[in-house]
Amino acid sequence: MPLPHHVAIIMDGNGRWASRRGLPRAAGHRAGAKKVREVIECASETGVEVLTLFAFSSENWNRPSAEVRLLMDLLRRTIRREVNALHANKVRMHFVGDRSRFSAALSRDMAAAEQQTAGNNGLKLIVAVDYGGRWDIVQAARRLADDCVAGRRNPADIDESMLAEYTSLAGFRQPDLFVRTGGERRISNFLLWDLAYSELHFCDVLWPDFDAASFRDSLTWYEQRDRRFGGLPSAARG
Ligand code: IPE
Ligand code: IPE
Ligand code: MG
Repeated sequence: MPLPHHVAIIMDGNGRWASRRGLPRAAGHRAGAKKVREVIECASETGVEVLTLFAFSSENWNRPSAEVRLLMDLLRRTIRREVNALHANKVRMHFVGDRSRFSAALSRDMAAAEQQTAGNNGLKLIVAVDYGGRWDIVQAARRLADDCVAGRRNPADIDESMLAEYTSLAGFRQPDLFVRTGGERRISNFLLWDLAYSELHFCDVLWPDFDAASFRDSLTWYEQRDRRFGGLPSAARG
């Protein structure tokens, strides 16, 4: 089994990491933000083409406002801290999600990071912020409907590949490998459309403890999968 082209990760477990150490949840989020660089570097080095990281979900607005503020602030500081190193490593950054609720400053920093790295041809890094899989399908349907009303598209032509053109990850390969850290076995409204045939790897390591070795372990787990896409097991394919 070759390397996955696209790995998508739910970075979960910051809060539990902190509580186990008797620390406030904020300390877990800070430790988690620091780990992002190591995993991005490892993905780059191993030759993964696309890495998608789930940083903040549509549902994370349900957290206490102080935690939401801290997460937004941390996101902004992490972008500012990491962007030059990412750029030097030829990483191209993309943000996906509903940006309408972000502060102007955060939106500006996201756009600046995308612009600065737009010419890079190394790892494609997609950061999902205020992202929800259902939101994504709804926004795709709405934009496709707008194009139908405007006469640019014909409803009779709508098929899977046309709808896919309107989703946030249009133009990227579908994730081959999904990893969720932190032990929970659920998708939590991450990439619903795109994960249709991904290999799902749930690992118990809490995100702040997830490192290059854990990332390589998930690649090894992926190597052992037999991807069938509804067909026959590889042994029977001949
Ligand atoms: C993931 O860690 C970070 C975000 C969701 C933003 P959590 O904060 O969900 O940590 P746990 O799941 O409570 O341990
Ligand atoms: C998923 O984790 C979202 C991110 C890691 C960004 P959550 O911690 O929010 O998910 P639930 O609440 O356990 O489903
Ligand atoms: Mg969680």
